[in-house]
Amino acid sequence: MDPQNLAYALVQLVHNFGAVAIVGGAVAAHWLVRDAPATQRCLAWLVLGGWLAQAASGASFGAVSYHFYGKFPDIHAIARGALFIKLACAAGGVLLATVYLQRATGWQPARRALVWTLLLLLGVTALASAAFLRWFA
Ligand code: HEM
Repeated sequence: MDPQNLAYALVQLVHNFGAVAIVGGAVAAHWLVRDAPATQRCLAWLVLGGWLAQAASGASFGAVSYHFYGKFPDIHAIARGALFIKLACAAGGVLLATVYLQRATGWQPARRALVWTLLLLLGVTALASAAFLRWFA
């Protein structure tokens, strides 16, 4: 078995489930359990874990490339833009999910809904960027 392919596959495994946690968690919190703050809080932990997993596994893609080739991939400007958007989304996602976990207990439902909308938008934007990163890399 090629160790390079194995390394990429294991990183991709984490990355795929991280994407599901981010988008699925936000969809569930926004629509399925919008009147259950305690369940939304559990989902906020899931979403925060997803964003952290994406940042760590995203960096690991670069680390695997560097390990096997001695340099980072030379990617097209469109792919670089998509990567930058993902990084910005990850920073925003970690920040928003952390603030939610710290403060949402005292929030009105409308504010909780707003933050879930933003978390969902960040997740969807990162997911859309993944397609451009993949095919313009
Ligand atoms: C710091 C944040 C992130 C970094 C650095 C990052 C980096 C990467 C890299 C390097 C790849 C491999 C691209 C290739 O195959 O050429 C990738 C793939 C992918 N990423 Fe991310 N990513 C991040 C966040 C996210 C987020 C937040 C999502 C979704 C919510 C996501 C979804 C995906 C998906 C679905 C793929 C597979 C694309 C495919 O092969 O078709 N990523 N990411």
